[in-house]
Amino acid sequence: MRKRLLFASAIAIGLSTGARAETSWTVPDPDTLPGDTFGRTVRQGRDLIVRTSSLIGPDATDPAKRYAGSGLDCQSCHLNAGTQQSGLPLAGVWGVFPAYIARENTVRTLADRINGCMKRSLNGRSLPVDSPEMTAMLTYIRFISAGEQVGKSLDGRGTPPVPLPAKPADPVHGQQVFAATCAVCHGADGQGQRLDAAETKQSGRRYRFPPLWGPDSFNDGAGMARAITAARFVHANMPFGTTFETPVLAVGDAFDVVAYIGTQPRPHMDNLEADFPDRARKPVDAAYPPYVGPFPPDQHRLGPWSPIQAWIDSGKVAVKTVN
Ligand code: HEC
Ligand code: HEC
Repeated sequence: MRKRLLFASAIAIGLSTGARAETSWTVPDPDTLPGDTFGRTVRQGRDLIVRTSSLIGPDATDPAKRYAGSGLDCQSCHLNAGTQQSGLPLAGVWGVFPAYIARENTVRTLADRINGCMKRSLNGRSLPVDSPEMTAMLTYIRFISAGEQVGKSLDGRGTPPVPLPAKPADPVHGQQVFAATCAVCHGADGQGQRLDAAETKQSGRRYRFPPLWGPDSFNDGAGMARAITAARFVHANMPFGTTFETPVLAVGDAFDVVAYIGTQPRPHMDNLEADFPDRARKPVDAAYPPYVGPFPPDQHRLGPWSPIQAWIDSGKVAVKTVN
C-alpha cells in the first residue's frame, strides 16, 4: 500500500536493492496533468489498462467494443496500472519497441504487442491500431515511460529471473501450496472473487481477485500459460502485495503451484501450432506442439527445462524461417 501511495504522488523512490539497484524507479503521475486533450487521453489510457473488461471487454456497453474476451483487465497482470517494478511494468516499454518478436519472427510495434495480449492474455481479438482506445493506451505508456532511454530496457522490466529447478515441478505439492497461499483470494476453485453488478458498475472491473483458470481467464497461448513466465511473476508478486525484494514463496513452490494451475482447464487459442515459425526461438516452456527437440511433452510443461535449453543452444535445432 505504501508503495502505491508513493507511485501515486510520483516521488522518485529507490525500491531496488542488490543487483537491481542501479536505477531508482520513478513513474510520472497522470493526475498531475491538466484537463486538456493530452491529459485526458493519458488518463483514458490508464483507465483502459485498469478497467479493460468494462471499456473494451465483455462488459462494454457497446457490443462492437467487446474486443477482450476474458473478464481480466490489463492490470490483472501488469500490476498497479503497469507501474510496478518487476510486476510486468508497462512503464519503460515505450523505448524498447519496435522490437523483434520471436513468436512471429518479425519486428513488431508496441500496438502489435498490445494486440498479442488482447488475443492471448485477454482471450479476445485485436484492437484496431488507429482506434481511440489504442491511441490512449499508447499515449499512457509513452507518458509513464518518460525519461527512459530509447532502446534500453528499464531495470525491473518484466519479472526477475529465477534459477530453473533441476527436477520436474510437482503439481500435487502445488495443489497444497495453492490451498495454503492462493485460495484465500483466488478461490478454492481458482475462479477468483467476482464483484456483484453494483460493484462492477462502480469500479469498472469484474473481479476483486481475478480467475487463474476457467472460461474467464487467459488462454493457453498466453505468456502467463507458460510455466517459467508464470513462476517468475508469482515468485516476485504473489500473494498480492509481495515485492521482488521480499518474495514469500520458495522458488520451487512457485514452480509447483504454477504446475498445478497448468493442470486446470482454460480457453484454447486456435492455430497454436503456427506459433514460433523459427523453432530455435520457441520458448522451452511453450507446452504445445510442435515441440523443440526430442523431449517428452511433459518436460516442456513441468521441466526440467535446462536440458532443453542446452539442446537448443548446442545448435541441433533445425532453424526454419517461414513467412
Ligand atoms: C494474463 C496476464 C496478462 C494480461 C491480462 C495482459 N498481459 Fe500483457 N503481458 C503478459 C505477460 C506474461 C507478458 C510478458 C511477455 C511474455 O512472455 O509473453 C506481457 C507483455 C506485455 C507487453 C510487453 C512488455 C515488455 O516488457 O516487453 C505489453 C506492452 C503488454 N503486455 C501490454 C498489455 C496490455 C495493454 C494489456 C491489456 C490490453 C495486457 N498486456 C494484458 C501478461 C498479461
Ligand atoms: C491477497 C490476495 C491474493 C493472494 C493471496 C494471491 N493473489 Fe494472485 N492476484 C491478486 C490480485 C489482486 C491480482 C490482480 C491485481 C489487480 O487486478 O490489480 C492477482 C493476480 C494474479 C495473477 C495474474 C492474473 C490472473 O488472473 O491469472 C496470477 C497468475 C496470480 N495472481 C497467481 C497467484 C498465486 C499462484 C497465488 C498463491 C501463491 C496468488 N496469486 C495469491 C490477489 C492475490
